[in-house]
Amino acid sequence: MREILKGNIIDTLALGQLRVREQGYLLLEDGCIRGVCDSVPEDWADAAVHDYGDGLIMQSFADMHLHGPQYPMLGMGMDLPLMDWLDTYTFPVEARFADLDYARRTYRRLASDLITNGTTRVCMFSSLHTDATWILMEELEKAGVTGYVGKVNMDRNGKPGVLQEETEESIRETLRWLDGCHFEHIKPILTPRFTISCTDELMAALGRIARERGLYVQSHLSENDQEIAFTHELHPDTQRYWETYDKFGLWKDHTLMAHCVWSDEVERRAIRDAGVVVVHCADSNTNICSGVCPVKRMLDEGLQVTLGSDIAGGAQLPMYKVIAATIRTSKTRRMLDNWQSDFLTVEEGYYLGTTAGHRYFGAGEGFATGDKLHAIVINDWDFPETAKPLSVQQRFERAIYMTHRHNIVSVWSEGREVVHRD
Ligand code: GUN
Ligand code: FE
Repeated sequence: MREILKGNIIDTLALGQLRVREQGYLLLEDGCIRGVCDSVPEDWADAAVHDYGDGLIMQSFADMHLHGPQYPMLGMGMDLPLMDWLDTYTFPVEARFADLDYARRTYRRLASDLITNGTTRVCMFSSLHTDATWILMEELEKAGVTGYVGKVNMDRNGKPGVLQEETEESIRETLRWLDGCHFEHIKPILTPRFTISCTDELMAALGRIARERGLYVQSHLSENDQEIAFTHELHPDTQRYWETYDKFGLWKDHTLMAHCVWSDEVERRAIRDAGVVVVHCADSNTNICSGVCPVKRMLDEGLQVTLGSDIAGGAQLPMYKVIAATIRTSKTRRMLDNWQSDFLTVEEGYYLGTTAGHRYFGAGEGFATGDKLHAIVINDWDFPETAKPLSVQQRFERAIYMTHRHNIVSVWSEGREVVHRD
């Protein structure tokens, strides 16, 4: 089937490079992008047209790190640093997901909130519960969200009897979970919570499973000073945190590492050289006082950087808000660096929240020919009247900072329009 999206088309092909096509046409065949152009080609005259008028057709967002079972604690309890925050607030909330009705209700709401805010791809942590993890995957799939979800592994330093597995149980449940994953658009990813939560035996088993089944891995790295010190105590033979994953075959191409706030030059080089992908979580890093990550420096050094809401260390689910928080944080970094580092521009923030994430899933740059369409349409009709008429690029900047959910009038995920508001 041939379809055409008509409106102001804004995508980003490289960091800082925005492509703006006023009143353009995006050609779609069976959900795949066939091109972006200024007029309708003759042989497309019969295609169905989705006319979004003066709306902004933008790329949808990729949230590369968030915790589904922390959604109930969104916007609360951000008065403690990481280790105390996990023990006091997080672990008891995640323990609730043994209750599958509770899981169903929570995950249905989360999936709906993600897709209606324009997030069409995710890499998400579930809890350690196998059955609730399947429910999370099913609810995301039904809502039209695509990507990876991981059943969390944690067999030490959790809450024994409340939220912690035995080593054998963790391995057995991981295999049971993997064997039961039959979703079209939501795939499994191995998810050791972080080194502190996993014994060497468990880490080694996960490394083996990753290799045997060709699975990707996601975890946390160098987020907080206490966490880093404790990790070092557990692995005194290592120089740096990243080596505790490398020891077990978990440090490889497509491994996602959230935070990396305190990764030094040596660790950053190890990230780049292995093809590990950083997930920068600006809102969370501020909320629980983890630190101010030098993202611009990482980009200059050639690391792959993507963005995550890190719900519920982060308190903002919409990625347009996470992008704005990322830009703000880069300005804080600049001030701390005596104005010696550059801040991120809005165009750069948009790239990190869209193309950088979509590439993890094999997509090309921007609205690339051959890719399934992942897009949103923003209607900014109710933003305050400006002093002068705005260009489409100025409207784009305002949309990143000022969009509310109701401004997102259409969402396309994997080539299908999954949200439509009249
Ligand atoms: N490190 C280990 N678990 C977590 C978590 O749930 N949130 C954050 N921000 N960091 C972690
Ligand atoms: Fe996290």
